[in-house]
Amino acid sequence: MSAAIQFNKVSLKYGTKADTVEVLKSISFSIGIEEVVSIVGTSGSGKTSIIMLASGLENASKGSIKINNQEIVGLKENELSEVRRENIGIVFQSFYLIPNLTAVENVLLSLEANQKFNLEKDAEELLDEFGLSHRLHHLPSELSGGEQQRVAIARALINKPKIILADEPTGNLDSVNSESMIDLLFDYTKRSQTSLVIVTHENSIAKRCDRIIELRDGQIV
Ligand SMILES: Nc1ncnc2c1ncn2[C@@H]1O[C@H](COP(=O)(O)OP(=O)(O)OP(=O)(O)O)[C@@H](O)[C@H]1O
Ligand SMILES: [Mg+2]
Repeated sequence: MSAAIQFNKVSLKYGTKADTVEVLKSISFSIGIEEVVSIVGTSGSGKTSIIMLASGLENASKGSIKINNQEIVGLKENELSEVRRENIGIVFQSFYLIPNLTAVENVLLSLEANQKFNLEKDAEELLDEFGLSHRLHHLPSELSGGEQQRVAIARALINKPKIILADEPTGNLDSVNSESMIDLLFDYTKRSQTSLVIVTHENSIAKRCDRIIELRDGQIV
């Protein structure tokens, strides 16, 4: 079967030999193409760790991780960033906007120089679509929390990823902003036929997904 993301017996350990914590304990799951899945679980259960592994920003201690059928465990840093660039858009738990770059520059951040040039108009259109046409050249410090979050989502979408990984994308928003943010993400996902993995503490969001994966203490329950 073809899947967007496939974890097979994946473990993640942090620390030294003498003092290790096993943050993920041999977990297996897959996310289908165009599937929308939420990951829920208490704080510290390993949700962000899954996002970091799936995007190749963290290395698995054991197991296999496939992104669009390509094994990523064991790849070199430059190969990983290639896989990321071609497949994945990430919305981080904290927005990770670069403070001295404008909204448009932040959206273009992870692209290569020639792409930056080619996609500047796309970045502006995306921000416009997200209601930020009047904030294109503002710095993050000049934007509200909700506006910063929309910039972060635009950044995740600029390279038209086939897989969107969103780590509590509404964690810092009030319920009205939170709702409209989720609408943006869901609309985009439908329209562009991508897979969406969304980490959330909010029941109302989890319920809108095709499926819920619940983590407890590094294991799927
Ligand atoms: N770099 C690290 N070194 C050591 N331990 C870490 C590291 N990063 C995370 N952990 C630990 O791994 C566990 C899982 O962390 P993770 O960030 O995946 O949890 P989470 O489910 O996303 O929690 P939250 O809901 O609070 O964001 C936690 O116990 C955390 O303390
Ligand atoms: Mg987290």
